Amino acid sequence: MTFFNYVNTKESPCEGFTISLVPKRFPIFSYIPPTKDEINDILLPLIDQYRKENPETITTNVVANWRSGWAVQNDPRFSFFVEWISNQISFLCVEYLRRQYTVHCSNMWIMQYEKNDYAQAHDHFPSAFSCVYYADVEEGCSPILFEGKHEIHPESGMVIIFPSVLMHEVPPTEKKRTVISMNFEATGRTWDTSQVRKIEYDHSKYESIMLP
Ligand SMILES: [Fe+2]
Repeated sequence: MTFFNYVNTKESPCEGFTISLVPKRFPIFSYIPPTKDEINDILLPLIDQYRKENPETITTNVVANWRSGWAVQNDPRFSFFVEWISNQISFLCVEYLRRQYTVHCSNMWIMQYEKNDYAQAHDHFPSAFSCVYYADVEEGCSPILFEGKHEIHPESGMVIIFPSVLMHEVPPTEKKRTVISMNFEATGRTWDTSQVRKIEYDHSKYESIMLP
């Protein structure tokens, strides 16, 4: 991960370049699927099993009781979940950006926060979209805080999808949180702008999940 928001600023100038800083509004999409209980009935035992098989913790900006490696997306037991989130991002690209891309999950990791665990402020540049899925969170756990001020309080089953350049952090939590994070690349735009209004996306593709 690079800290895109910390570089190329007036505090950290690139010699020879003039830097203009421009404000821009970014969307943060959140969604609670109607099938969250069925999803979590499968995911939670799978996460427990995965942790038993992979007990080592990776040290990153996240200070958590357990933090998996980066490549959980390659474990076929999680394929249904990767496909489901990929479909949601494809849907958002069409509905919000009016573009159709090939969406590819490049990283996926799982974290289990316990009391006082936290995540330092960071972003996920150069990925296009990032996702957080709250598999199991206790009431009163810490929110995710975007750009130092926009809080979203998680609940079990909530999906948050956001542009990867957005800074985010988790203040020290009082309560437990089991969270899946993912990065996605968007490539191969398949429609030109003259056709873009004709794109229709099958809503059932993101609303439903093919459970294993
Ligand atoms: Fe993050």
